[in-house]
Amino acid sequence: KKKAFVDALLAKMTLDEKIGQLNLPSAGDFTTGQAQNSDIGKKIENGLVGGLFNIKGAEKIRAVQKVAVEKSRLKIPLIFGMDVIHGYETNFPIPLGLAASWDMNLIQQSARVAAREASSDGISWTFSPMTDISREPRWGRISEGSGEDPYLGSEIAKHMVYGYQGKDLSLSNTIMACVKHFALYGAGEGGMDYNTVDMGRVRMFNEYFPPYKAAVDAGVGTVMASFNEVEGIPATGNRWLQTEILREKWGFNGFVVSDYTGINEMIDHGMGDLQQVSALSLKAGIDMDMVGEGFLKTLKKSLAEGKVTQAEIDQATKRVLEAKYDLGLFEDPYRYGDVKLAAKEVNSLENRNIARNTAAQSMVLLKNENNVLPLKKSGTVAVIGPLVNNSLNMAGTWSVGAKHANAISLMKGLQDNFGKEVKFISAKGANIDYSEKLESIYAAHGKLTDRDNRPKEVILKEALDVANKADVIVLAIGESAEMSGESSSRSEITIPQSQVDLLNELKKTGKPIAMVLFTGRPLALTNVKDLPEAILNVWFAGTEAGNAISDVLFGKINPSGKLPVTFPRSLGQVPIYYNHKNTGRPLSAEKTAKCEYDRFRANYMDECNTPLYPFGYGLSYTNFTYSDMSVSNTNPKGNQSIQASVTVKNSGNYDGAEVVQLYIRDMVGSITRPVKELKGFEKVFLKKGESKKITFTITPEDLKFYNNALKYDWEEGEFDVMIGTNSADVQHTKIYWSK
Ligand code: IFM
Repeated sequence: KKKAFVDALLAKMTLDEKIGQLNLPSAGDFTTGQAQNSDIGKKIENGLVGGLFNIKGAEKIRAVQKVAVEKSRLKIPLIFGMDVIHGYETNFPIPLGLAASWDMNLIQQSARVAAREASSDGISWTFSPMTDISREPRWGRISEGSGEDPYLGSEIAKHMVYGYQGKDLSLSNTIMACVKHFALYGAGEGGMDYNTVDMGRVRMFNEYFPPYKAAVDAGVGTVMASFNEVEGIPATGNRWLQTEILREKWGFNGFVVSDYTGINEMIDHGMGDLQQVSALSLKAGIDMDMVGEGFLKTLKKSLAEGKVTQAEIDQATKRVLEAKYDLGLFEDPYRYGDVKLAAKEVNSLENRNIARNTAAQSMVLLKNENNVLPLKKSGTVAVIGPLVNNSLNMAGTWSVGAKHANAISLMKGLQDNFGKEVKFISAKGANIDYSEKLESIYAAHGKLTDRDNRPKEVILKEALDVANKADVIVLAIGESAEMSGESSSRSEITIPQSQVDLLNELKKTGKPIAMVLFTGRPLALTNVKDLPEAILNVWFAGTEAGNAISDVLFGKINPSGKLPVTFPRSLGQVPIYYNHKNTGRPLSAEKTAKCEYDRFRANYMDECNTPLYPFGYGLSYTNFTYSDMSVSNTNPKGNQSIQASVTVKNSGNYDGAEVVQLYIRDMVGSITRPVKELKGFEKVFLKKGESKKITFTITPEDLKFYNNALKYDWEEGEFDVMIGTNSADVQHTKIYWSK
């Protein structure tokens, strides 16, 4: 039915109308890139627009759709996109924080809520999930992905797609997802945004491609090409990527959109003029041109000159029309967007409660000496730091649909929830940064509006006075929201010095300090980690941040988040990631543990090999005790499956959840293999005193990898099966798996 409908429509279309379907301008309600389009209304009337993004509001979207379906010749509806990245108006934690929950149901639910809100307000397409693996904390967009691990990243990608798209894409409360940025965007040199990527195929296939593929396998409707180059050809013009891998190897049959002016940027990459790069992109497999209008301006000429074919233009047009068909837009162009429904759905109490719980589950307790946390519900708490009274900084980067003033600041959360039992007093203590220039860059999106121009000594003194009156200090420091995200790469990954100075001064008061860390990236915390008694990493927790942080600080919710990315000791260690190779000269386990240098081995003279906090790490207010692990069969054969089990006991004083992690090392391979790879995990909630046996089933599927000929298979031999509480703290059992 779809094919017949689309073919019939295509047969009626002029060349201009076909090319128009491939055009995606930005409406300009807000900006997510540099260039702007003009005369959009006229272009819609003339059938020269396929979709629109950066437009918000059911009424507004309806009005634009009306132009498309009433004034354009063929009445083809528009598709309306938006960066609904971690929620729509109800913001959830930034994606890196969501990943730290290791809770696939919650993650899927967050996407579901986002889809319900966005669709009620007229959106039918989101530019999410972002599944770029990254080992680069300097890269600001590490905040938007799921971290460093292909297995965890793949699970999350799949669940996000399910959450957005649901079972039936044509329903009015599901939206089309877009996996991005294909490919390797997280691997830019030096962590600088948009920078060159150079990577061998074995690494691409084993370590960076899996989450994109998982989204495709989950049925994602669209794919966005990345800005960077891959093997010397920008991803946007890379046929090997966008056609041979994506379509021919993985079977993707939706449409591919460029990133914002990604086609035009190939001119600066040095790939030719606008006509050449547009033709190159179409031929590579790009179907829709975001913002740059290279297709609109040049494809007709390219066709006349034989530089592209009619079949190529028809193919791309068909894919866009098919997506609109799948969304049900031809049946009802107004299916998405209902002012009354939006009033009920967007930012509803129900959604905010889900966001509050999700936010609490994303927080990672990095340290808790002397059980400073949870805080006692009595006495006086000094709440200090530039992020205390700052609702504009709670949602975090890429929250374009948010109403930031709706977000709950930390101070508000504390007062509202525990203000009856506890006296909270507050002070700013420091600006985010000493540098006005940097602060104004961080404030580029208008979020950091409260720079205090009093002398720093005065701001500090006020904080010390407040601290001296309190029993305990809650210190909210770290990055502001705009220090991570697009175009927010940093060459330092420490907390800005203004705030480190504040912490040092507060330490001198002798009061216990619970540090609440705001960050969109792994930070090198070596210079601060010994000062506070407790460190709770809250990322950017979204609209309900203040409530959720309060829930965790006072023990209403026991933290259970685990790091989805390694926290280095220093920038010099970067890239540092748990699933690295062994090298031919590994440092011994003993010396690694003791941080001892060994000449002519793979190590630094002036730094340990271990990170500050490893992948998978996170504490709880309770303790979990692991029994010895057992494996059902240490000599499996062929396609048999085996079970690896451990019993976990909540042996502490609070109910709580633990993420039990399974890692495997392939001891000998036809190519070098990582020292461990995550192959399974289970988040288990245990009441105080409760035990549970956790069993992982392992099959040869879990042992497969892409070999040097890029063949995906497993190899007979010895494997080290590991179970533990984080990637660095595991038990081992060796097995031999024969073919
Ligand atoms: O979706 C984004 C992308 O991630 C970065 N460039 C702009 C796009 C649309 O806003």
